[in-house]
Amino acid sequence: MAAAVQAVELLRSLSAEEFRSGERIARTLGCSRAAIWKRVEALRAMGVPVAAETGRGYRLEEPFELLDADRILAGLAGRHRRRLNALSVHLSVDSTNAELQRFAVQRRHAVAVFAERQTRGRGRRGRVWISPLARNIYLSLGWRFDAGVRELSALPLVLALAACEALADAGLRGHVIKWPNDILLGGRKLGGCLVELEGDARGPCVTVLGVGINVRMPSSTPAAAGIDQPWTDVASGLPQVSRNALSAALLSALVDHVERFEGRGFEPFLGRWADWDGLCGEPVVVRQPGGAVAGVAEGLSPRGGLLLATEDGVRELHAGEASLAGEGAVQAQGSAGHG
Ligand code: BTN
Repeated sequence: MAAAVQAVELLRSLSAEEFRSGERIARTLGCSRAAIWKRVEALRAMGVPVAAETGRGYRLEEPFELLDADRILAGLAGRHRRRLNALSVHLSVDSTNAELQRFAVQRRHAVAVFAERQTRGRGRRGRVWISPLARNIYLSLGWRFDAGVRELSALPLVLALAACEALADAGLRGHVIKWPNDILLGGRKLGGCLVELEGDARGPCVTVLGVGINVRMPSSTPAAAGIDQPWTDVASGLPQVSRNALSAALLSALVDHVERFEGRGFEPFLGRWADWDGLCGEPVVVRQPGGAVAGVAEGLSPRGGLLLATEDGVRELHAGEASLAGEGAVQAQGSAGHG
């Protein structure tokens, strides 16, 4: 068994309430006490603080809520459960998107893959999505569309709307979308979406819909030092947030939104975008491969393009990295981290 998976298994056997002896844990996990010590070290290296005291054993220095497939399923309405073909929670994967892409194409539809940790989490534009253990949500949903690639261009926006509405249902307030699909709270990155698709111009298309949300990631988390832009987590606005409950809310919203998009395209979402639009009315710079375009954001076109009032008139943009003019660092153009 991989060392990372063994370390995560140890996490299941530890408690923040009481010390547990190395002997007892070794018995539960069927290994030696020396092996437990190694796993404790591995767990610490993954950002889980573990206290160790001679004669008493080990205790977590903070409580961790691990993801549980049964609890997530129990949090779904019957119609969402019936819609899903499979749901799994992995302890450690390279990337949940990559994991789904290893499934045969015809087996990816309506399959949800969660992970406690990603070793090569993928962000947009080839960036890394920093994914420490047991702190955040890393979810990929596989979905097959009869539509062709062009008709799916607004799908990343639909994902961001689903994530925002799930967060609001969980009780969070004040979060917005930075077009096309960054989720921000107080100007700091809270989550992001990555759509990867295979298919024909005329359809069908098999998509992998990836969403990452920072849930409970204190700034002391070692991996967080690798994030090169301002970021935040849900717990800073909603201290009692449950990862399992939020995972269920997110998955439900994704299924609802994706089904509606499948039936009616982006039109039903256009009016809702205004509720979450973090750029509308703001001076914005959009960086594209051909150069930067500056203007005032005026909301979305019916196809999901960003409308920008520039010196040369209103332009409709379908790709690029948007940042508030003069606040490039806040909206982050970094090449690594939660890009
Ligand atoms: C972004 O750059 O803003 C998009 C980040 C998307 C991260 C999620 S986490 C779950 C899924 N698996 C990945 O490897 N990436 C996405």
